[in-house]
Amino acid sequence: MRLDIISVVPDLMRSPFEASIMKRAIEKGLVEVHFHDLRDYSSNNYKQIDDYQFGGGAGMVMMVEPIDKCITKLKSERDYDELIYMTPDGETLNQGMANTLSLKGNMIILCGHYKGVDQRVRDHFITKEISIGDYVLSGGELGAIILCDALIRLIPGVLGNETSALTDSFQDNLLAPPIYTRPADYKGWKVPEILTSGNTPKIEEWREDQALQRTQERRPDLLED
Ligand code: ADE
Repeated sequence: MRLDIISVVPDLMRSPFEASIMKRAIEKGLVEVHFHDLRDYSSNNYKQIDDYQFGGGAGMVMMVEPIDKCITKLKSERDYDELIYMTPDGETLNQGMANTLSLKGNMIILCGHYKGVDQRVRDHFITKEISIGDYVLSGGELGAIILCDALIRLIPGVLGNETSALTDSFQDNLLAPPIYTRPADYKGWKVPEILTSGNTPKIEEWREDQALQRTQERRPDLLED
């Protein structure tokens, strides 16, 4: 997988890719992440990338031209499977979407800023618009990091234990069951006996039951469809 991230503040984004699971995925050669500073594609001396809205109104709009130049250059170098725009009015990110996107090859992720991008960018380039939730961030960068993390960890070979992503919360539309590690008794706080019984089928049954119970209590909406 190759991710090309277009932003006005690419430096804001680097550190999560230099640590932890995402770093490991990059080092293993399972994913390539490239940052593109939109100001490098500005056509004036002030490195301007935004302008006032036609029709008036508060807030600046990201201009078509620098975005067009950046995207057109990237598209001339390789084909892309998706061109994603991070925006609060996009489709809300969920595990199903992360699963689907983790199977793609090359993707461009455009991070919005200010009031957002000129609508013509969305009409002519963007194939998918993604929101990370019903709240407004100051830019799409933090959303893009979350999107990248959610899908990079699903790429086969990224996680050490291949089964661990399959047992995450949401993979079956269920939340994950409670988990414990040693010691089995800490200050009298005991681990459920079933987990130390060695009876694997019974443990599986208990976990499924707990996952269902937790989902019913906390997220009954997940059980509706
Ligand atoms: N940019 C601003 N707010 C956002 C959100 N909630 N999701 C994705 N991108 C955004």
